[in-house]
Amino acid sequence: MFYHIVTYGCQMNVHESEKIAGILEDLGYEFTPTRNNADVIVFNTCAIREGAEDRAFGNIGALKQQKRKNKNLLIVVCGCMTQQKDVAQRLFDTFPFVDIILGTHNIHLLKSLVMRKLNERKRILQYMESGDVVEGINVKRTSGDNAWVNIMYGCNNFCTYCIVPYVRGREKSRKKIDIINEIKEIIALQSYKTITLLGQNVNSYGNDDPSQGTFAQLLQNICDLQGDFKLTFMTSHPKDLNDDVINVMAQNDKILKELHLPVQSGSNKILKAMNRNYTIEHYLNIVNKLRGKMPDIRLSTDIIVGFPGETEEDFQDTCDLVRTVEYDNIFAFMYSKRGGTVADKMTGQIDDETKHKRVNFLLNLEKEIKAQKEN
Ligand code: SAH
Ligand code: SF4
Ligand code: F3S
Repeated sequence: MFYHIVTYGCQMNVHESEKIAGILEDLGYEFTPTRNNADVIVFNTCAIREGAEDRAFGNIGALKQQKRKNKNLLIVVCGCMTQQKDVAQRLFDTFPFVDIILGTHNIHLLKSLVMRKLNERKRILQYMESGDVVEGINVKRTSGDNAWVNIMYGCNNFCTYCIVPYVRGREKSRKKIDIINEIKEIIALQSYKTITLLGQNVNSYGNDDPSQGTFAQLLQNICDLQGDFKLTFMTSHPKDLNDDVINVMAQNDKILKELHLPVQSGSNKILKAMNRNYTIEHYLNIVNKLRGKMPDIRLSTDIIVGFPGETEEDFQDTCDLVRTVEYDNIFAFMYSKRGGTVADKMTGQIDDETKHKRVNFLLNLEKEIKAQKEN
């Protein structure tokens, strides 16, 4: 009996698919790299942009034939897309050959849901409004010599464009002892070079439970563990990245000198409309501090072009910022409307042609900067 998992979205989802794999292996299934000979196919979906949802819908729809040939094939859809109640219902109604639909908060229940489906043969749509931190799930690591470790779940920031707080719930930190124990186990295996801590906003680790200490303290505690490993983390929010974290990074050889610091826009007006809670001056100040203490640090960022109300001048501010920081890597996205978010209802939505033009300009600019840096 074989399972196959199709993963969309961010590192959080990549790691969650490793947990899904662990659950399915506990049930006796084995991994197969192709979906054709699978007995269970899981779609772990993403909702960050409209395109991600459309692609998932298309690919799930395409499984109809395979299900017709193999009536016992089990099709499961989970993740951020199906954590939206209306989308989960639409999927359930549109694709009668999908067997189990669940969201992000109930993934730990997959084992019992698969067993229930096999016994009762009735389709399942299980929606959970919110969830707690669940420990003890067997993880089947699949990311080469990198081991992902969740330190927190959810997000409290409500950037006005973003769906994540709605599909991942409020910030919940794992207990430090659980994180440290997981990392000790990873180090003992000696098969992983890098450990990457994961959270939507790692710098606010412990805010919901101050007895766990701060993110900077967590980093230091991990660096103090015996063993040969490198440590990195994502994602950092510029409003929360403080001097303590910068100092711990600079002082510990175990921490990789690289940082993903999404700026989203180079215009203070747009940052305000995005509810990002920092200014470009603040952002550049952090960059200067980082480079002051770690001259070789590699910086990457996320940028959204075509946010409602973004003028040509705002966009040029973003280009200026990119020229100033000289990032090692830029992930540029065209703004995508997400139902239920604040920006969805904003006036001044930008047309697709302008978004395309701006994203292409930015990607060319990145190429030019990279070429200059290499010379
Ligand atoms: N928690 C992280 C990452 C969130 S999602 C952070 O705050 O940085 C990853 C990236 O997707 C974001 O940084 C943003 O650039 C992009 N993104 C999120 N919502 C989007 C939307 N509605 N349209 C386009 N890009 C979006
Ligand atoms: Fe989305 Fe903002 Fe939270 Fe990142 S910090 S997940 S962009 S709401
Ligand atoms: Fe990640 Fe997409 Fe969900 S980016 S948190 S998988 S909406």
